[in-house]
Amino acid sequence: MSDTLDQLKLHCLECNKCRLAETRTNVVFGVGVENAEVMFIGEGPGENEDLQGEPFVGRGGQLLDKMLNAVDLDRHKNIYIANMVKCRPPKNRDPLPDEQEQCITWLRNQVKIIRPKIIVCLGRVAATRLIKKDMKITKEHGVFFEKNGVIMMATLHPAALLRNPNNKPGAFEDFQKLRDKIKEVCTHTYD
Ligand code: URA
Repeated sequence: MSDTLDQLKLHCLECNKCRLAETRTNVVFGVGVENAEVMFIGEGPGENEDLQGEPFVGRGGQLLDKMLNAVDLDRHKNIYIANMVKCRPPKNRDPLPDEQEQCITWLRNQVKIIRPKIIVCLGRVAATRLIKKDMKITKEHGVFFEKNGVIMMATLHPAALLRNPNNKPGAFEDFQKLRDKIKEVCTHTYD
């Protein structure tokens, strides 16, 4: 087990545990600060992320950054962003169960090092795997759960908001609830 994110990342960049390694351009390990109290977890890299090696850098990422910034969160200052799978699934299909199983060890180790107080799942894939199997995002977004001492919440995936802008106000409310929760339980996110 690596002690730092940099060490873990070096191992992860060499990963060949599943077929996604064969088609990736870059491993998309994650971005953010090591002492983040809030962690966001998406599904998997798309085309732009695969090319640049960073999560959420396409149109969805721009929307995510806007919503983050609206509640004083910033990927380079006070949070960490990762994905369920670190390599792009071809044609942006959902990651297959065995790919998620192989890859989740990297995420578990990221969580062990960062020790976030709050995890926000971006979309169904992360929410059903990390919060509960039968999670219904459309109904249960913005609801806080607790698992193993970590507060968890899901919100709509930014790509889903781009497809369906009517849902943006609801997602924005999730971020406001998140801001209140951060103020309640975090010590340095809003320093
Ligand atoms: N969608 C995701 O779930 N993650 C990314 O990094 C980009 C798009």
